Amino acid sequence: MLNFEYYCPTRIVFGKGSIARLPELIDKSQKVLIVYGGGSIKKNGVYDQVKQALSGYELLEFGGIEPNPKYETCMKAVDLIKKEKVDFLLAVGGGSTLDGTKFIAAAAKYEGFDPYDILTKGAEVKDAMPLGDVITLPATGSEMNYNAVISRLSTNEKLAFASEKVYPRFSIIDPSVTMSLPERQTVNGIVDTFVHTMELYCTYDVDTPLQDEWALGLLKTLILEAPKVLENPEDYNLRANIFWCATCGLNYWISLGAVQDWATHGIGHELTAFYGIDHGQSLAVVLPRLLKNQKAVKQEKLAKLGREVFHIKDKNDSEAADLAIEAIERFFNSIGMKTRLSDYGINPQEAAEKIKARFAERDTKLGERAAIDAQVSYDIVKAC
Ligand code: NZQ
Ligand code: ZN
Repeated sequence: MLNFEYYCPTRIVFGKGSIARLPELIDKSQKVLIVYGGGSIKKNGVYDQVKQALSGYELLEFGGIEPNPKYETCMKAVDLIKKEKVDFLLAVGGGSTLDGTKFIAAAAKYEGFDPYDILTKGAEVKDAMPLGDVITLPATGSEMNYNAVISRLSTNEKLAFASEKVYPRFSIIDPSVTMSLPERQTVNGIVDTFVHTMELYCTYDVDTPLQDEWALGLLKTLILEAPKVLENPEDYNLRANIFWCATCGLNYWISLGAVQDWATHGIGHELTAFYGIDHGQSLAVVLPRLLKNQKAVKQEKLAKLGREVFHIKDKNDSEAADLAIEAIERFFNSIGMKTRLSDYGINPQEAAEKIKARFAERDTKLGERAAIDAQVSYDIVKAC
C-alpha cells in the first residue's frame, strides 16, 4: 500500500426531509447566495423547500448555471457577490451547479489577474468563500470531494481544478429529490459512478485488498440496483442506495493508498468540450475502448473484477479480462446507455484527430503510468 493522507471536512446530512436542517448548518447572520441551474429545482419542489427552511435569512439568488458549467456564467455570479457582499454560497442542484459554485467561491477570492488561471495554469487557490450544497443528482461525488470541472465557451475547453479550500462545509443529500430526474440523467449518473470506481480501482496492484473490495462492492451494488431503480424510479431505498454509491464513488475512500488512472475522464472531457455530449455518455463511449487498448497493464485487476463482479469462471487472466470489458459495455447498454460515438452523430476519425492535436499541443500524458499520449489517445478514440 502506498502512503496516504486523507482530509475531508464536509458534513454529510443524508436522508428524507434533510433540507429542513439547513438552519442548523448556516448561521443566520450570513448573507446567502443560492446558486442553481436551469430551473429543475423550481419544478420539483426543492427550491420551495430551501426557501422555506431559510425563511428569515437574507437571501440572494443566481440561476442559470449550465450542465458542464461555463466560466463565463460563473464570472457573472462573482460580479454579483462582490457587488452585494455575499457571505455564504449555497449550491442547489446537480454536480454542474455545485462545481460552478466551487469555482465561483475560489474566483471571488482570487487575487491574481484572471481566475481562469486556476484552470489553465494551476494557479493556487489561496482562499475561497465558504459554501454548502443541496445536491440533487447522484453522479459526480462533488458533494464530498474538492474537485470542480469548468468549461469555457470561447475556447471549447473543459478543465478541472482541485483545492481543499472548496470542500463544501456540508452537503445535504435527500435521495427523494432524485425521483424527478429524467431517466437519461439517472443513467448518466450510474455510468459516471461506475467509471469513477474504475478510474480508482482498475490500475495496477499495490496490495490494497480492502480498498479493492470496497470498489468491487460499489460496482456490484450499482449493477444490482440500477435496473431496479429504472423500473421503480419512485422507490426511496433504491434512490438512496444509488446516491450513496455515487458519493462513495468519488470521495476517494476506495483509492486510499492505491494508484489512480483518470484517462477515460481526460479523453471524455474533450469529447464533451468539442461535441457537447453528456459527461456520462462520453465515459460510456471511451471506457470499453480504453480498457481494450490498455489491457496488458490492467489485466490483473480486470480479471479480478470479471471473476468477482461478473462471475466469470474457468478462464485465464487474459480471457477473464476480455470478458470483463465486454460485460461492462453490456451493462451500460442494458440500462439504455449507448456506447459508440456514431450513436451520438460523431465521426470517430474526426474526433480522434481533434483530440490528438490538442493533446500534442498540451503534451498531455494520461493514465496510471502516463503512457496514454496524443497518439495512444488517437488510437482509443478512433476505435470508439
Ligand atoms: O440545470 P437544472 O435545471 O438543475 O437541471 C439539471 C441538468 O439539466 C438536471 N437535474 C439535476 N438534478 C435534477 C435534475 N432534473 C430533475 N430532477 C433533479 N433532481 O439534470 C441535468 C444535468 O445536471 P448536471 O448537474 O449537469 O449533472 P451532473 O451531476 O452529472 O454533473 C455533470 C458535471 O460534473 C462534472 C462533469 O464533467 C459535468 O461538468 N464532474 C464533476 C466531478 C467532480 N466535481 O468531482 C467529477 C466528475 O467526473 C465530473 O467530471
Ligand atoms: Zn465523472
